[in-house]
Amino acid sequence: MNTAIIIGVGPLNGLGAQLCRRFAHLGLHVHAAGRTQTSLDALVSLIESEGGRASACVTDATDEAQIISLFDRACAAGPPALALYNVGNYTPGRISEMTAEYFTAGWQGACFSGFLFAREAVRRMQPGGRGTILFTGASASLRGRADFGAFNSAKAALRIMAQALAKEVGPEGIHVGHIIIDGVIDGDKVRKRYPEYAEQHGVDGMINIDGIVDAYEFLYRQEKAAWTFELDLRTATEDW
Ligand SMILES: NC(=O)c1ccc[n+]([C@@H]2O[C@H](COP(=O)([O-])OP(=O)(O)OC[C@H]3O[C@@H](n4cnc5c(N)ncnc54)[C@H](OP(=O)(O)O)[C@@H]3O)[C@@H](O)[C@H]2O)c1
Repeated sequence: MNTAIIIGVGPLNGLGAQLCRRFAHLGLHVHAAGRTQTSLDALVSLIESEGGRASACVTDATDEAQIISLFDRACAAGPPALALYNVGNYTPGRISEMTAEYFTAGWQGACFSGFLFAREAVRRMQPGGRGTILFTGASASLRGRADFGAFNSAKAALRIMAQALAKEVGPEGIHVGHIIIDGVIDGDKVRKRYPEYAEQHGVDGMINIDGIVDAYEFLYRQEKAAWTFELDLRTATEDW
């Protein structure tokens, strides 16, 4: 039980990579999964330079065979203590102008892949009757918003799937949690793609990654007589 599998890992100053670092610091061998080898290799080098253990696992979360293969490799020495699903690509667009293919791809990327990942995690954890499965949510998990119908519907469906799973496997000793990130994360994505937004909002107007990672660690450490399913995180100034 000293393994973590974390999928949805991209740039170093992004949530997925920082979650990997934290759980490596806690002594877990982290299997970091994403689609880009170079990003994963940079993260593994950093974790190893900090004294941790990590492996890079190039995986497309929407591909069932790749997810099964990821778990087969990562669980060779036993079931994981933690399986963390952080995928969730932003798919903007107006519903009236959207193709069926675009909507379906958005759902596959942010919901269906979460089902594939969670199913494999549960199958590996069930025999030992323990383990933690965590999902990353967003404002979209709770609210529909004009021009974001594909993303909102996929994130909301992921949340309800996670809730159903929590009720299914909780009695078997498996803790399922969902973290709602209600606002923009202060990380590489916003700073590189939308620098003007980062400039305008500053560090207090975006959600701090370390603070988010603390929430995942809190859920991971909980004792089973006092489990939390869901936490929501936002800045002090968020209009919600
Ligand atoms: N960024 C925000 O402001 C924000 C706000 C609220 C909630 N969230 C949520 O936080 C989570 C992390 O998002 P993030 O944008 O901050 O990114 P991140 O944690 O820095 O990295 C996530 C990475 O997942 C990888 N990925 C995407 N599709 C994948 C797939 N099909 N299979 C495997 N890996 C995949 C991407 O890297 P590759 O392209 O290299 O595979 C992406 O960079 C998401 O669930 C998102 O909905 C983000």
